[in-house]
Amino acid sequence: MAHETPEDRPSGMRAGATAPAKCILLGEHAVVYGMPCLSVALDMRTAVAAERSTSATTVNGHPLESRYHSYLMQVLDRVWKDPSALRLTTRSGIPSSSGMGSSAALSVAAAATLYDLQAGASDAEVAQAAFESERATQGGGSPNDTSVATAGGAILLAPERRTDAGLEHLWSVTLDDRAWEVHRARLPKLALVIGVTGVRSDTGEQVAKVRRFVERSRFGEETMEAVGTLVWEGLDALRTEDLATFGNIMGRCQTALHTMGVNHPSLQRLIDAAHTVPGTYGAKLTGAGGGGSVVVLTLDPEGVAEAIGRAGGIPYVLEPSTEGVRHTAGEEATEAEVQR
Ligand code: PMV
Repeated sequence: MAHETPEDRPSGMRAGATAPAKCILLGEHAVVYGMPCLSVALDMRTAVAAERSTSATTVNGHPLESRYHSYLMQVLDRVWKDPSALRLTTRSGIPSSSGMGSSAALSVAAAATLYDLQAGASDAEVAQAAFESERATQGGGSPNDTSVATAGGAILLAPERRTDAGLEHLWSVTLDDRAWEVHRARLPKLALVIGVTGVRSDTGEQVAKVRRFVERSRFGEETMEAVGTLVWEGLDALRTEDLATFGNIMGRCQTALHTMGVNHPSLQRLIDAAHTVPGTYGAKLTGAGGGGSVVVLTLDPEGVAEAIGRAGGIPYVLEPSTEGVRHTAGEEATEAEVQR
């Protein structure tokens, strides 16, 4: 899909954008240590709208406050170069603290909106600003979530540019002397079920926990490298539509995540429930863990959704979303839009 240029976008006094949720198929946590990560955008969105205001900046009618609006404040710091105050509206159809990238979608939609109220920006610039904002708020982490929320579809993040494995390079995201290369990956149609545990997943906390695991011994680094190898094998399995092998690789990544210390009884319950359903290829936690969500690849999404519900989770049967950040005129910060 060709990327929009700033000139193609709606202009005027009000701007808005929406961005999708995401699900990490393989590679969370290891991506922070330079390993590849494979993710898909999901058909659930967060919407932001903004217009200039003559009074103080507000969010959904409330004064902007660091305690409630930390992500938005970071985005404003980086992107908003105009002296005017703003009237911001946000609406999210993505469960928060669930490993589904709600903060990344908010950061991406907000960055795109604020750029559009000024001179506009490319998708690469939106992804960079959203990453810096998320990282400043969370105190660490990779540009994976903000990249997939910007690009949509399936992406593979890697430390180097690749042209093999059917990958197409989209853009680079940088931080000091580090760079992450964002690639479009082409995957077959997948039936995914997300199971939300309802237990809060704190990305900063889990990333810090894994850091201690990696720093403690050589085994920590080896675990990250093993996940990196599994991501490349998983990408190959998906490209050849070998879903049984991919499901097995999901299970091996889950074992590695358990070893890193980010599994949780609430996650394990949903994974076990998914495996009771015939036709389930694989199940693992997705995102930072410690709570949050699981992702299941299955031939029977409805059966898995029921099993997850019975085990106390909230199931979502979702199609990967091909669309990343969508620029709007701002009217879309409504219920109807985010639930599309
Ligand atoms: O739970 P989420 O959506 O914040 O996913 C975090 C993914 C990690 O690999 C754990 C951290 C990162 O920034 O890549």
